[in-house]
Amino acid sequence: MIILKSTIELNNWFIENLNELVENVGFVPTMGALHMGHASLIEKASSECQIVVVSILVNPTQFNEKADLQSYPRNFDNDVIVAEKAGGTILFTPTPKDIYGGEPYAEPVDYGPITSAFEGLSRQGHFDGVVSVVDKLFISVKPNRAYFGSKDLQQVAVVERMSNERHPKIKIVSCDLIRDENGLALSSRNIRLSYAGIILAQNISKELQTIAERVKEGGDMIESVEIAKKKLKNLEGLELEYISGVNYKTFSISTENRGWSHIIVAARVEGVRLIDNIEL
Ligand code: PAF
Repeated sequence: MIILKSTIELNNWFIENLNELVENVGFVPTMGALHMGHASLIEKASSECQIVVVSILVNPTQFNEKADLQSYPRNFDNDVIVAEKAGGTILFTPTPKDIYGGEPYAEPVDYGPITSAFEGLSRQGHFDGVVSVVDKLFISVKPNRAYFGSKDLQQVAVVERMSNERHPKIKIVSCDLIRDENGLALSSRNIRLSYAGIILAQNISKELQTIAERVKEGGDMIESVEIAKKKLKNLEGLELEYISGVNYKTFSISTENRGWSHIIVAARVEGVRLIDNIEL
């Protein structure tokens, strides 16, 4: 695997190495602290593409809390090992200034509920930053296919919308959410949880699982979500932000249970913000 630290290095590498035989450049954008969830994206990309670019950039414009940006885990040496083992061809590690062409700044975006509800509401400006950086990364990397984890379900919807408008030739591939052996959705932030925090956080996926099972057995969706909400709200140390049914294409806030494709949830444990979802 080759490490390229700037957009100029990446451009030069492409000029020297890309030819008509390369039909598929795959792209896995990340903020580093790579785990098995990222590895699964890189593996999928490398099974479908001749070249796989993995980027690492802790994007300042998508953090609405300074403390979260400062404490975001960074582990470059391990990232190199994970990316290489999973099949990455290029590890692209630009600085924010390089990608943004100056001081990082994100234009506001409004795609309706996709950007304004749930994560958009809880993390003001977050999707402005995601859209901005992914757009700029797509311009630099020029991939044919880009891979995103469906743990960040709303992010996938936002990126699909942005890409349809600005990069219609890039195929957005939404990949399976990866869990640990106890069901906790893998996230770079999990590393900040204590053992007790991990045990508490496991309740999130347990409740999602219970909702999905109830609904499968014919239970009412709204009622099932309400039961889970009560349970999670009663757990000491877990601060529930939201749990709701959504249609992953629209993210519209509707009390109608028809059209829900997923249950989505966000909660804090030991100050660590965790999100998760389950398909119905
Ligand atoms: O999902 C992430 O890690 C980030 O939001 C992304 C897509 C790399 C943009 O910074």
